[in-house]
Amino acid sequence: MRIVFVASEAFPLAKIGGLADVTSSLALALQESGHEPCLMLPAYGSIKAPLQDVPGKSVTVSFTGRQEQVNLKTTGLKGRVPVYLLENDRYFGRGGIYDRDELERFLFFTRVVPEVIAELDLRPDIVHCHDWHTSLVLLWLKHAGMAVPGVYTIHNLAYQGPFDRQFLLRSGLASVWQKYVPAGAPRPEMNFMSQGILLADIVTTVSPTYASEILTRQYGEGLEPLLSYRRNELCGIVNGIDYDEYNPAADAHLARNYDSTTLETRTENKLALQRQSGLPPDPEMALFGMVSRLEEQKGIDLLLQTIDSFMAETKAQLVILGRGREHYHRSLAEAALKYPHRLSVFITYDEGLARLIYAGSDVFLMPSRFEPCGLGQLMAMRYGAVPLVRRTGGLADTVHDVTEAGGNGFVFQDYDVREMLSAARRAERGFHHRSQWQDLMRRNMELDFSWRASAGRYEGVYLRAHSKGQPSGS
Ligand code: GLC
Repeated sequence: MRIVFVASEAFPLAKIGGLADVTSSLALALQESGHEPCLMLPAYGSIKAPLQDVPGKSVTVSFTGRQEQVNLKTTGLKGRVPVYLLENDRYFGRGGIYDRDELERFLFFTRVVPEVIAELDLRPDIVHCHDWHTSLVLLWLKHAGMAVPGVYTIHNLAYQGPFDRQFLLRSGLASVWQKYVPAGAPRPEMNFMSQGILLADIVTTVSPTYASEILTRQYGEGLEPLLSYRRNELCGIVNGIDYDEYNPAADAHLARNYDSTTLETRTENKLALQRQSGLPPDPEMALFGMVSRLEEQKGIDLLLQTIDSFMAETKAQLVILGRGREHYHRSLAEAALKYPHRLSVFITYDEGLARLIYAGSDVFLMPSRFEPCGLGQLMAMRYGAVPLVRRTGGLADTVHDVTEAGGNGFVFQDYDVREMLSAARRAERGFHHRSQWQDLMRRNMELDFSWRASAGRYEGVYLRAHSKGQPSGS
């Protein structure tokens, strides 16, 4: 199948979060299974990789009263999956991925995508859009009369691209907003995400548990009526990770490479991490690690509320890497000053250090308030760090408490200090039972969270979308 992925992020070109890992590694996995995927994203000014021109190809669209020209650039993921980047100075030229004018930016991007598909003569069997930034592609395809089956994946329902009445009128969206929504469907809300949910042939999200959670008020972010309306076309597929990219036996960022048969040497990574973090290097001390966007979703409030008791009731060390909200930066930096020998905080995004945390920590923390899938726990397991998670979304699907048969981590239920603390104490005690702990690490390292199984599930979704998207009789 020819599949066009449309997204705002793709690793390594443009990455803020897990979305970037998923779009590129899923495209690579689909290609390995014999499909022909390609990716489309804006040519952000921040992209450093060299891009080639697509000779003789460009499109001009009329947008909010102006003629805008878009030039096409190209590069390849690992040199083999084509990526097309849409270049336009006014909308994509400046800096980062998400900006104050992101509504205009992604409205423009989605508006141009169908024209680019036509200009490049891609003739896709499926257009697969990811998150709110690209959901309007499904609307513009219909508007252009292009009958391509569409799949829409929700990576995070908390970000919907909301707008007000003024934007609806000014942007010209008002005349098409209701136009393609099927008769009898609920009205789309004033956000981009709604159209993706209502117009896609199949809606997916990134884990089965999140797929059922988002039908409830607690997790539905106000879109639960729309999602419930589409419940028969909604499914959850757990993300994979790229097992070539995330491989402790070959990862150049580590102090020492290892695999599940040479676990003793993993300690060198722990010592390197302790040194780099300014914590006393000590293999006998349980070391907890966390790599995360510092957002409310990730349970940073809970972590901050738990830190004092964690320090009082365990002897463990803790390393945190991430960035996000200013107020979390400040509170975490203050906590690090208070516990200089136990807590180390890096407010940045650093791929190399992230890998060393997966490879050097004993326990990997993810106390998320909600988590569509989560990739950190999968990476941590691949590198032998045992996950400690709250039971929600993809964390509930991939981590089971050690007290259950086949358990592979430490799980707590309620978003609550005592619960998190008691899981942390259990993990610290577990760490001191050396041989059982090593078995647990080894088992986790040998689990298969590669894309193999999940890419196969997407194939199934594409086939289903294809049969739904065809006019009957064809
Ligand atoms: C978002 C979600 C995360 C998910 C990722 C990739 O970042 O918050 O849970 O793993 O998208 O799907």
